[in-house]
Amino acid sequence: MKSIIEIKNLEKSYKGKKAVNNISFNVKEGEILCFLGPNGAGKSTTINILATALKQDKGEILFQGEKVNKNIKNFKKKLGIVPQDLAIYENISAEENVKFFASLYGIHGEELIKCTDKALEFVGLKDKKKDKPITFSGGMKRRLNIACAIAHNPKVIIMDEPTVGIDPQSRNHILDSIKKLQESGATIIYTTHYMEEVEEISTRIIIIDHGEMIAMGTKEELKAKLEDEKIYNVEVENLGDLNKDEFFKVEGVKKVEVSESNVEITTLKGVENLDKLITLLMNKNVKINNITSVVASLETVFLNLTGRTLRD
Ligand SMILES: Nc1ncnc2c1ncn2[C@@H]1O[C@H](COP(=O)(O)OP(=O)(O)O)[C@@H](O)[C@H]1O
Ligand SMILES: [Mg+2]
Repeated sequence: MKSIIEIKNLEKSYKGKKAVNNISFNVKEGEILCFLGPNGAGKSTTINILATALKQDKGEILFQGEKVNKNIKNFKKKLGIVPQDLAIYENISAEENVKFFASLYGIHGEELIKCTDKALEFVGLKDKKKDKPITFSGGMKRRLNIACAIAHNPKVIIMDEPTVGIDPQSRNHILDSIKKLQESGATIIYTTHYMEEVEEISTRIIIIDHGEMIAMGTKEELKAKLEDEKIYNVEVENLGDLNKDEFFKVEGVKKVEVSESNVEITTLKGVENLDKLITLLMNKNVKINNITSVVASLETVFLNLTGRTLRD
């Protein structure tokens, strides 16, 4: 797949604090590129710079090989932007909302009516086109927000957490629409902190944390990084006289995380060492409540890379 957008060494600080720190990546034509990261990771900042809504301190963006700031109008025309905060007018009809946004891209007359209908149908709001968003549920507003962003038939669609806080039905509708948009040839850049969404729609993933990119690849590639590892999650009643360092005397142990009620041991998959680990815990007077073995999932990949879960 060829790259449609190239982002090079992007940086952005707010009051001296780096929100985005030297981020570089390419967007490939026709992909669903998911940005996964917890709140405050720098997803919106990155996406807003990419959408030219925010100016970077450093770095550059190329669209189809050309610097974006040389021909910003052309770039903007090709973009559809679904911002994290709703950008719709509550007191004009759904139809008028879509018309308004599509007309900003120079669409008018018959074509404007056609593309408005098509966009509303696409998000499942055709029946509600005469209604005002003020009467809509959160999910319907989100869907209208998407209709406003896609009516002009953009090549690249940028969506910033479009499913936060909505009902499962609207959420499924949105995820299905995204797959359809991709099938029809659009390139999608999607941010989320929901692991399940990434599992469902991504063709490629960038994991971002504290303004930095910490991993990039397909689901399969990211999971493969953990393929030679196994994680034991030991729920404990108390920690007894446990000393973390002692685990590393057991063959195969790579990483140990200890919290009040949990000991998490990452170990090489091929090494049978569970009996030794249990013996060690018992010798240190740790009371074990439960032991589970975790298989590689995006969740474990994330945990492994960042040392925290997305819900922290
Ligand atoms: N307008 C702003 N002023 C000051 N700090 C900001 C502003 N926008 C974002 N930040 C900070 O930048 C960091 C990244 O934020 P953001 O890009 O919104 O993350 P995300 O979208 O992943 O939740 C956070 O620490 C956030 O508090
Ligand atoms: Mg955000």
